[in-house]
Amino acid sequence: MSLLDAAREVREAAYVPYSHFKVGAAVRGVSGAIYRGCNVENVAYPEGTCAEAGAIAAMVAAGETELIEVAVIADAPAPCPPCGGCRQKLAEFGRHDTPVLLATVEGATYATTIGELLPGRFDISHMSRAE
Ligand code: THU
Repeated sequence: MSLLDAAREVREAAYVPYSHFKVGAAVRGVSGAIYRGCNVENVAYPEGTCAEAGAIAAMVAAGETELIEVAVIADAPAPCPPCGGCRQKLAEFGRHDTPVLLATVEGATYATTIGELLPGRFDISHMSRAE
């Protein structure tokens, strides 16, 4: 199964009673294994979590901390970009050139990279003066 198919499949499980906007995400760990996540909303709106966060949590829970590929899909007029917070979360476990495939359920796709999505990201080097 392709990474995008995995994201498409898990999207169906999204819990979205407030936005009605289902998102599916899948990441491939360096081992080759696929981890999936969907968005999970909450009546206290800020407590909801994004699909990408779920996929990353599944990867880390399985013992992997390096991702080599990402796919995100939603029913949107254009391929759905990860939110700002998810860009930082992806950057934590991927590389500048890690491929990210954004897609719509209708079949439009946009290929990008973690580095393109989050140029100038905050990273560990910025904390080099901290004790
Ligand atoms: N959402 C994601 O799951 N991933 C994104 O990158 C963009 C937004 C979700 C959060 C919320 O459940 C819904 O989409 C509307 O913002």
